[in-house]
Formats: sequence, structure tokens, C-alpha cells
Amino acid sequence: MNSQLKVAVIFGGVSTEHEVSIVSATSVVRNIDRSRFEPILVAIDKKGRWFLGPGAFRLLGGDEAGDVQRVVLSADPERRGFLHLDSGKVTEVDVVFPVLHGPRGEDGTIQGLLELAQIPYVGCDPLASAIAMDKDVTKRILSQRNLPVVKGTCVSKWLWFIDRDEVLEEISDTLSFPLFIKPATMGSSIGITKVHGSEDLVHSIEIALSFSSKVVIEQAVENPLELEVAVLGNYEPQASLPGQVIPCNEFYDFDAKYVDSSSELIIPALISRRLSDDIQFMAVDAFVAIGGSGMARVDFLVSGETAYVNEINTIPGFTSISMYPKLWEATGITYPDLITKLIELGLSRHQDLQSLKQTIDLEKGLGV
Ligand SMILES: Nc1ncnc2c1ncn2[C@@H]1O[C@H](COP(=O)(O)OP(=O)(O)O)[C@@H](O)[C@H]1O
Ligand SMILES: [Mg+2]
Repeated sequence: MNSQLKVAVIFGGVSTEHEVSIVSATSVVRNIDRSRFEPILVAIDKKGRWFLGPGAFRLLGGDEAGDVQRVVLSADPERRGFLHLDSGKVTEVDVVFPVLHGPRGEDGTIQGLLELAQIPYVGCDPLASAIAMDKDVTKRILSQRNLPVVKGTCVSKWLWFIDRDEVLEEISDTLSFPLFIKPATMGSSIGITKVHGSEDLVHSIEIALSFSSKVVIEQAVENPLELEVAVLGNYEPQASLPGQVIPCNEFYDFDAKYVDSSSELIIPALISRRLSDDIQFMAVDAFVAIGGSGMARVDFLVSGETAYVNEINTIPGFTSISMYPKLWEATGITYPDLITKLIELGLSRHQDLQSLKQTIDLEKGLGV
């Protein structure tokens, strides 16, 4: 009897992180424990079309792959799973591992589709994913929990168009250069600029607003120590040892992340025990604050005595040499075991959700 669980690994996607997602997914498929899991490949191309089958990687690589089928994810209770558009056949899976970074992958959209289909999946639920994708909302939630975040403001496209002068005045009254200007809902440093004086401010805000309908404007932390902590778990999330990023550019911009390979990752970070304990604690607190489950990487900017939570990534880079898996390796969980653990966490969260009441019996009342 085949007792392996079928795990759909979804990768590619329409986001700018399409290529990174392919590398992450390749590592997952190579390292998944085949004695327990059978990976089913599902590629999303840049147009947003879904393809299932062994040729899915080759297809995204640009090859003509004959052994793939166009599919859609069906939430119909009688046809639940990947519905083949040509044959009408359904490929059922036990669990999905979305290995998609950025908008329409990491932002709660795919997670919402999977909730609707009632298929278990790895990682955060729609709400936590959506919160973490939005740097403005994340900062508000973290502040409410008294976690330190960098001083800044957020401006919507609408406000910018109706009252630009007011916005600029507020920025000059409350913040001082250099500033970081970021699209609120992006990743991979896309659309982010460091602005040294007022002459570049308008242009930078417009760049950021071309990627997102809100822009986050914040004080630059000068020469920050960039630390990252991996969090894993559902009800009792654990923090890994922290790692450090040393960007090869003025900040950790797109080039420093993906083009120039001279940025350094130091794992574990060479920092004091006290700082390490503090940010591990804060990472778990931040994860809990957004209602995280499964996994997230919590990133910090540290200046002197203060560690600010910069952002939370709910589907962090997941290649075998990425920070998230490397941090767990340094903390004692191998890459294949990490994949297994994440799948188990996804299945267990799904079971918990299933046990919730969906309706009430009007005659019996709440029956609690
Ligand atoms: N307020 C800040 N002060 C100093 N550096 C910053 C600040 N905000 C962002 N950065 C730099 O920009 C990089 C990308 O910003 P981040 O907020 O992490 O966006 P992304 O989601 O695109 O990774 C950070 O890794 C850091 O190098
Ligand atoms: Mg970042």
C-alpha cells in the first residue's frame, strides 16, 4: 500500500520573485523525505496559468514539457483538488506546500484559496500572511504589542494625489533625512530607495507608489546590524539562533540580494548572548502578534542598544542555502526534517480548524 502523503509543491507565480521561488521549490523537492511524502509539482507561469505534472520545472525553465496538464484549484466539495482543464480529472492531494514569494503567493491570496478548498497547507493563514505582506499594518500591530519599530509614516496613493504638499510638510516636520521609502506591500527590496535629501523625496515616493497603493516612509537606521530569526511552530512557536546579513551595498537592495553574490550571511550571528536572547524573544512575540502559524522569518535592524523589528516574511527564501533553513540547521534541525516538520504543522493546524463548529443547532443552542 502506498502510504505516502501527496504534497503539492506550488511554485513560480506572477510576482517579481518568480525565479527565486523556482530555486526554493527545487530545493524542497530534492530534499523532501520520499519515504513519507510524494511531491506533486504545480507550476504557476508568469501569466498566472497553473500546470501540474513532472515537467513543471522544465516548463518554467522555458522547455516544451509534454508531461504537464493545465489545472485550476477547485474548491468544489465533490471535485476538490487540482482540476485538469482538458480531461476534467481531479488530482487530489493531502497537503499543499506553497513555495511562492511576494504578492499573490505570500500575501494570503493562495492561502485563502486553499482555505476555501479546505486543503491543508504549509505556513501562515490568510490573515497573518496579509498582515506580514503589508509593512504599514505590520508596524501598527507590532507597536500595539510594544515591539519597537522604526519611526515613520504611511501615505496612501489617494492622499498623495489630493494633498501632496501637506504630506511633504508632515514628513519634513516629523522625520529627518536620510529616509527609507518603501512600497507597503512588496518584497525583495523592489521599489525601495534610501533618500538623503528633500530633492529626491518626491521621485522616490512615486517609484514606491508605482508598486503599491501605499508607501511607507521611515527614518533610516544608520549603519544597522541586520539580524534575522527563523520562527517555527503553531501554538508554541520556537525561535532559531539569529543570523546576520552583511549587505555588499549601502543597504540590502535587490542587487545585494540576488545579483552581486558578495553579500554575506553569518550564521549564527556573532552577537552578545543578551542581544541574541532579546531578539529571539521579540521574534516569537512578533509572530504571535500577527497570528502566525508554521513559519516566518523575522528581520531586525539594530542600532546601538535598540533592536527594531523591521519586517516579517511568512514564506522566506527556502533554498537549502537560504537564511531560514540555514538558521534551523544551526539550531539543530536539518533541511529535510524542517520540511517534514512544516508539513506536519500545516496538517495539524488544519485538523484544529476542522474541529471548530461550522454551524449551530438552533434547538440545542450553543451547546457549550
Ligand atoms: N529604516 C531603515 N533603516 C536602515 N535600513 C533599512 C531601513 N528599512 C530598510 N532598510 C534596508 O533595506 C532593506 C530592505 O528593506 P525591507 O524593509 O526589509 O524590505 P523587503 O521586504 O523588500 O526586504 C533592508 O534589508 C535594509 O538593508
Ligand atoms: Mg527585508
